[in-house]
Amino acid sequence: MAKILDGKAVSLANREEIKRDVASFIEKTGVTPCLAVVIVGEDPASKVYVRNKHKGCLEVGMRSIVCELPYETTEDELLSIIDGMNSDPEVHGILVQLPVPKHIDEKKIINKILPEKDVDAFHPVNVGKIMIGDFDFLPCTPAGVMNILSHYGIEIEGKHCVVIGRSNTVGKPQAMLMLHKNATVSVCHSRTRNLAEITKTADILVAAVGRADFVTKDMVKEGAVVIDVGINRCADGTLHGDVDFKDVFDKVEAITPVPGGVGPMTITMLLRNTLTAAEKLTK
Ligand code: GUN
Repeated sequence: MAKILDGKAVSLANREEIKRDVASFIEKTGVTPCLAVVIVGEDPASKVYVRNKHKGCLEVGMRSIVCELPYETTEDELLSIIDGMNSDPEVHGILVQLPVPKHIDEKKIINKILPEKDVDAFHPVNVGKIMIGDFDFLPCTPAGVMNILSHYGIEIEGKHCVVIGRSNTVGKPQAMLMLHKNATVSVCHSRTRNLAEITKTADILVAAVGRADFVTKDMVKEGAVVIDVGINRCADGTLHGDVDFKDVFDKVEAITPVPGGVGPMTITMLLRNTLTAAEKLTK
């Protein structure tokens, strides 16, 4: 029977620490860290995420600005709003909720955000810094995964870590962070041949595929640690991870549940990045 890696509990412990750090930062500098979130359009899932980011900021004592723009907002209008936030000394972190509408070039938007305020760590400057191991911000989901592993004392050095998924936001930075911790890392994706043969050699398996219940018992090694990054809403309304939790449960040593695993960590890591941005910009 597997140990459940409780991301909700780890997230709460982190938030308490962030709250204390925010209070002492305010006392020392008189500056309140502030996150500005921009959302374009009416995507219901994005609206929930943005609301939770706003609530998270307030709970740890930070300021939160939410800029809600209509779907018809032009690329130029959005770029000029980001410009304003870049030059506003009271804004320390900027996040444009993705996806943006099709008529807006996501790359241009990411490139416009000042790297020092890029709390998603999506800007090429921050991506490059992660590559060479000299970073200020870590992307929130991979940072959450690393935080859970460290909280439970799960050693990474020398382990074979297999990441399924190669997105710029999760798979690639996840692999890089594990490499920095001296793991041997394999990255698998949709064109990988003999996927199960590779995943079965993983000491730590990170699933970031975006397909419900994709990882099954025959794909994991006995005693592996399994981290499930997936959040898939199924036809019956239930949330499923990328791992078939019930199927692998008896075979693995430890596993993150969905919900209640990696998910709760991502906003917490965003709050930490916002405080880091405020500290670096207030010097
Ligand atoms: N949409 C879904 N997840 C994220 C995220 O982590 N950052 C941004 N900017 N948009 C998202």
